[in-house]
Amino acid sequence: MPKAAYHFPRGFLWGTATAAHQVEGNNTNNNWWAWEQDGHTVDKSGLACDWWGGRWKEDFDRAAEAGQNAHRLSVEWSRIQPDPDRWDENALDRYRQMLRGLRERGMTAMVTLHHFSDPLWLMEQGGWENGETPGKFADFVRKTMEALKEYTTLWVTINEPNVYAYSGYVAGAFPPGKKDMKTALRVMTNLVRGHAQAYRAIHEVQREARVGMAVNYRSIFPANPKSPLDRWVAKTQSGIFNDLFPRAAQDGKVKFLYKTINVPEAAGTQDFIGLNYYSRDYVTFDLRLPGELFGRRAYAEDADLSDTGFIANEPAGFFEALKWARGFGKPIIVTENGVEDADDHMRPRYLAQHIHQLWRAVNFNWRIKGYFHWSLVDNFEWERGWTQRFGLWELDVETQARRKRPSADLYAEICKENGLSSEMVEKYCPEALEKIFPE
Ligand code: BGC
Repeated sequence: MPKAAYHFPRGFLWGTATAAHQVEGNNTNNNWWAWEQDGHTVDKSGLACDWWGGRWKEDFDRAAEAGQNAHRLSVEWSRIQPDPDRWDENALDRYRQMLRGLRERGMTAMVTLHHFSDPLWLMEQGGWENGETPGKFADFVRKTMEALKEYTTLWVTINEPNVYAYSGYVAGAFPPGKKDMKTALRVMTNLVRGHAQAYRAIHEVQREARVGMAVNYRSIFPANPKSPLDRWVAKTQSGIFNDLFPRAAQDGKVKFLYKTINVPEAAGTQDFIGLNYYSRDYVTFDLRLPGELFGRRAYAEDADLSDTGFIANEPAGFFEALKWARGFGKPIIVTENGVEDADDHMRPRYLAQHIHQLWRAVNFNWRIKGYFHWSLVDNFEWERGWTQRFGLWELDVETQARRKRPSADLYAEICKENGLSSEMVEKYCPEALEKIFPE
């Protein structure tokens, strides 16, 4: 077969994404730590990847040597504001050092201001159920911005507000473990307000800032496309899970089933769409699942599944996600995409096939600015603890030793080449060659 390559535009951002609680370690002052101590998770985060102890340096070295020109990290609210009336300047300084570390390595930084974890004191006041939380979040954001603004102009206000609300208030797997749709809707509305206020606070401090949310897009297909009920439930679930937040940030309306809540301050509050994409579901109407809006989701029967069955390799869903994101008329940044795969048998093809879909979208001239793979090093996977391994580098949690997986080399070749070639695919995942470079 002749050699071929798919290239990306000059200046495309290639990086990995991480989140504070998942990598820092000893985040003792937030709700996740408490949730872990109470036995709700498979394992505890403990030292995590020990970034707070300074191991971010060696991990940033790895990323930079592997050709990554960007990194998305998050800051931990409970460290920066350990009590309602106290700011921790040392914590802010630590984040400044990290961001300076990225700059020194020639990497663009993207900063997420909220990634799932909340300070304990905030949760004692009801967390995002409390109508005062959006304002408190904006205060925290303003303070953090003042300290960090010289290092980046790329900001994510809230990571996956849809997953936060669903997992914490519908499924009950995240703290506070509630299963109550009404409360979930209140939380979602407050998250929209929090995002909106943060958006304005950021722009007040830094006019040239580019601000967005990172939304987890699930491709949701009717299991039986001929069934009107399956089609209805797919559309309904998708309308809430995927659309609610970015749409509210466009027009200031929170639309939930047949209800509309006006949040006028949210209109026009996204400069880009942050897209997290992992997989696609097939949904069947099921009256027994009111909490899931009457839909039972499953992967395709013949799906290419990850280690624990958490993710199906569905690259076509990624293209669909990009097309959806394009509908908002803003630039797109892929803020997360990846798979759990301890022995790296699946990740190379998952990665190559998703980059191929990304290229297809870029090739249509859609305004896609970068791609952040989840994740750099194995990190603490929330309620699933250390049972799922998303890193390009493997982590030995006991010894803190890192070991490179083959995918790290594949991704390095992609980053350095600013593209994906048939030779790379032949070398790392020949089984996907025909799909990516058909004869
Ligand atoms: C989250 C990450 C998480 C990843 C893999 C995303 O929903 O933003 O924090 O580690 O999925 O589960």
